[in-house]
Amino acid sequence: MDMLTKVLVIGVGGTTNSGKTTLTKRLTDAIPGSSSMCQDNFSFGKDLGDERLNSLRIPELDCWNWEKIEALDMEKMVEDIQTKIDEHSCSVLFVEGFLIFNYEPLLSFFGKKYFLTLTQEECRRRRSLRVYNPADGPQYFDKVVWPEYINVLEQVKLQPDVKFLDGTQDQDEIFNQVLGKVKQLLKNMGQDV
Ligand SMILES: Nc1ncnc2c1ncn2[C@@H]1O[C@H](COP(=O)(O)OP(=O)(O)O)[C@@H](O)[C@H]1O
Ligand SMILES: [Mg+2]
Repeated sequence: MDMLTKVLVIGVGGTTNSGKTTLTKRLTDAIPGSSSMCQDNFSFGKDLGDERLNSLRIPELDCWNWEKIEALDMEKMVEDIQTKIDEHSCSVLFVEGFLIFNYEPLLSFFGKKYFLTLTQEECRRRRSLRVYNPADGPQYFDKVVWPEYINVLEQVKLQPDVKFLDGTQDQDEIFNQVLGKVKQLLKNMGQDV
């Protein structure tokens, strides 16, 4: 594959409610021929009888830990990204999700990695405004979501090529910063938008 036909894969990671989907949608709308893939769509589903979910059970809180990579069909996600690259069905592929930089087989795809952060308070506030299925129990955010995120963040901080973005910044500022960089990367690859 020569430089002109390469698909640029941009990772948009970050904590829950940090603005990954919002940013990715704006970027995809702004860049002709771009496409996106969301990690949420690779959840094994909420069939609580599914044996694959047994390891996620938290009996003390009477819930499942949906924040773990084991809750996601990551092999399928890798396969789908590879197919998009092989078919060259887009110029830029935005891959967004809360655990995209914590699964080794995904890492080599990324031409650039972004990670949106929030404080615990702002993250809790935004999450409380959303409706989840299954619904968050009263302790789920503080006992599961946030501690799992802190583990993720520690791992991601060890990766020197991740660009951190403050998810409380103005949406337009975040968007323009990322859009500018993506356009520059495309230009370097010989593709202008
Ligand atoms: N930069 C921002 N400033 C304030 N609110 C934001 C910002 N980005 C996203 N939001 C809001 O936060 C919520 C979660 O955004 P979303 O893009 O769905 O997050 P994620 O996909 O990371 O879970 C939405 O209500 C969205 O409008
Ligand atoms: Mg989202």
